[in-house]
Amino acid sequence: MDMDTLFCIARRAAEAAYAPYSRFRVGAALLAGDGTVFSGCNVENRSFGLTICAERSAVVQGVSRGCRSFLALAVAAPDSPVPVGPCGACRQVLSEFMAPEAPVRFGGSGPQRVDTTIGELYPHDSLHELAGAT
Ligand code: THU
Repeated sequence: MDMDTLFCIARRAAEAAYAPYSRFRVGAALLAGDGTVFSGCNVENRSFGLTICAERSAVVQGVSRGCRSFLALAVAAPDSPVPVGPCGACRQVLSEFMAPEAPVRFGGSGPQRVDTTIGELYPHDSLHELAGAT
């Protein structure tokens, strides 16, 4: 699956966002090895700190269905004029289930897209550095 298609799925996922407090919808789509795509949206709460981001929502969807490795990620923020990348907490969680070289695309409502990798977003993560340090 190409990143354009994965981004379209992320944008569709944003439509389910529960974001009455920020009015800022986000969708995420994670590609699994067998071609399955797990998507998620942000789920806010009146106790603001309990908000779950779209990216972690997608991880939970995938892991709950037995998938522990994702090949690519797309994040869509249709209420933002500029691309919005994963927050720091999500970068840590994503790095648990994705290789550093896994591609990531994120975008907002406009045509601009950022293409990067998990390793660029979250370098020197202890899981992969320790695994390679034998
Ligand atoms: N949000 C995400 O879901 N993912 C991101 O990458 C950035 C921020 C959500 C959290 C909150 O519901 C809203 O966007 C505003 O920060």
